[in-house]
Amino acid sequence: MCELLVLLLCAAAVNFARADFSFASYYGNHMVLQKAPERAVLWGYGLEGSKVMVVLQGEQENKVRSAHVQNGTWRVTLDPVEAGGPYNVTAFQLGPAEAKITLTDVLFGDVWLCGGQSNMYLQLSKVFNASEEQAMAPKFPNVRIFMASLELSKRELIDLPKVEIPWSVPSSELLGNFSAVCWLFGRYLYKTLRYPVGLVESCWGGTPVEAWSSSWALQKCGLEADDGSYLYIIPGETGPEPKRENSVLWNAMIHPLVNMTIKGAIWYQGEDNTIYHLDKYACSFPAMIDDWRATFHEGSGGQTAADFPFGFVQLCTPNQGHIIDKFARLRWHQTADYGFTPNPRMKNTFMAVSLDLPDKDSPWGSIHPRDKQDVAYRLMLGARAVAYGEKDVSFQGPFPAKIMLSGDIINITYTQTISVTKSKTIFEVCCTEVKQTCSIDSKWVSAPIMQWGPSSVQVSTELCEDIVSGLRHAWSDWPCEFKACPVYSADGELPAPPFTLNRWP
Ligand SMILES: *[C@@H]1O[C@H](CO)[C@@H](O)[C@H](O)[C@H]1NC(C)=O
Ligand SMILES: *[C@@H]1O[C@H](CO)[C@@H](O)[C@H](O)[C@H]1NC(C)=O
Ligand SMILES: *[C@@H]1O[C@H](CO)[C@@H](O)[C@H](O)[C@H]1NC(C)=O
Ligand SMILES: *[C@@H]1O[C@H](CO)[C@@H](O)[C@H](O)[C@H]1NC(C)=O
Ligand SMILES: *[C@@H]1O[C@H](CO)[C@@H](O)[C@H](O)[C@H]1NC(C)=O
Ligand SMILES: *[C@@H]1O[C@H](CO)[C@@H](O)[C@H](O)[C@H]1NC(C)=O
Repeated sequence: MCELLVLLLCAAAVNFARADFSFASYYGNHMVLQKAPERAVLWGYGLEGSKVMVVLQGEQENKVRSAHVQNGTWRVTLDPVEAGGPYNVTAFQLGPAEAKITLTDVLFGDVWLCGGQSNMYLQLSKVFNASEEQAMAPKFPNVRIFMASLELSKRELIDLPKVEIPWSVPSSELLGNFSAVCWLFGRYLYKTLRYPVGLVESCWGGTPVEAWSSSWALQKCGLEADDGSYLYIIPGETGPEPKRENSVLWNAMIHPLVNMTIKGAIWYQGEDNTIYHLDKYACSFPAMIDDWRATFHEGSGGQTAADFPFGFVQLCTPNQGHIIDKFARLRWHQTADYGFTPNPRMKNTFMAVSLDLPDKDSPWGSIHPRDKQDVAYRLMLGARAVAYGEKDVSFQGPFPAKIMLSGDIINITYTQTISVTKSKTIFEVCCTEVKQTCSIDSKWVSAPIMQWGPSSVQVSTELCEDIVSGLRHAWSDWPCEFKACPVYSADGELPAPPFTLNRWP
């Protein structure tokens, strides 16, 4: 009896709290809603059973949708709206508790989600040319920003617990605290799109992919067991970090967003996984992408594409005094071991190669390079080609199409024309006594570049006196100095990504 009373009181308290009529945390003045052909989803809280009417008011448009409050929330899906604005979105609660709330200066455009760890988090105030970049804010009033707070949760939340930067027109001050990669990507994209872009930053430094993955995604890769192994400690840290636990950031920082309609996502993460479940990344990363796609599609009632474009940054370099290959392996796994994207496992993805943008002297540590402009620019090229279907945009660095061994020479033919500088070679051959599959533990010897043609490079195998069983490229943590790899696209903009290939699989 007593217990029942407590339950009833609790329920009443919850209902009362939800009676406040409001939008969910990530709807606000100055926001960007996803433009046509997708339809924007709007939701919020209200008094159980009330009718809610949402009116979109702009110069041309006047649209009305309505819904009922069920289980404390209401939700409407607008008709498709072409890019532009500004609009006002007013929600009316009708019935016993009449209320009205208005979002002003709302634009329609493309909404991009920016996720990952510290290199996505790195603020614009910390990159090269920071003050010039921040000072450009007033030139881009139609690129709007929003940032989720750093929160974790043991269970999936339906709304963000806290907002760090509510939807805003960019200012120099706000941009100083906003993700450099996210902002630069958005403003470069705006230059080609010429319509509003909404940027949603939700990322946290020092976190593994497992923390951003649902249990469904983890299960796909045999990672669901909560065995406490996430309690790895990075040198310099004082203790274990709860933010690294399976699914906790998915639960609190991504799942709440799944009912919003978005165009796509960009991602800069992987450094933590060089010391945690490294060789699972070829499974865990694509599984996370699959899961985000399925969940956003379902959460938006089919508005966010089921295969929405997903761009990511292939890891740069940390300043390790000695050659180890953890970053090389992680870079390979970022492509599901194909070496390039999109590929059959990772459709509709694009990758910004960044191994040629090291920054030994970065005050934030060499693991946080300050050149985020090139990173974002390369991501933007990928978005134009993959997300927007522009046919003539070159966005992939040169990747081998054909490899021929004759005598002491390997002739590598690329899928595109190239530009070559005969700097330090970063090709290596695997040298074995018998025909065998190579591994990272095999003997790898340098294969110097001898000559090259418009779309091919010839390397020498002379330093291998046994059987040449494999070929790899850029397979070290720090393969090249700044923009000084040997092979680039013909225009010199895009470096050849790393690869490792076996002759006897
Ligand atoms: C939106 O509301 C504001 C303030 O009420 C008003 O000044 C503005 O004209 C409205 N804009 C549109 C597009 O209706
Ligand atoms: C409301 O919540 C109850 C219990 O959690 C659930 O069974 C029901 O499906 C929910 N209804 C809606 C419309 O979400
Ligand atoms: C930027 O972040 C710092 C530290 O969190 C904070 O003190 C400051 O108020 C923020 N600035 C703006 C403009 O939000
Ligand atoms: C978000 O979407 C999911 C999946 O469609 C649904 O179960 C949930 O009720 C939605 N939440 C809100 C607040 O609309
Ligand atoms: C910084 O600005 C200088 C001068 O405009 C330019 O040459 C350089 O490329 C910029 N650096 C980056 C990383 O964009
Ligand atoms: C390398 O291969 C390409 C394409 O197969 C060919 O055009 C080129 O002549 C070859 N180069 C050498 C030096 O064999």
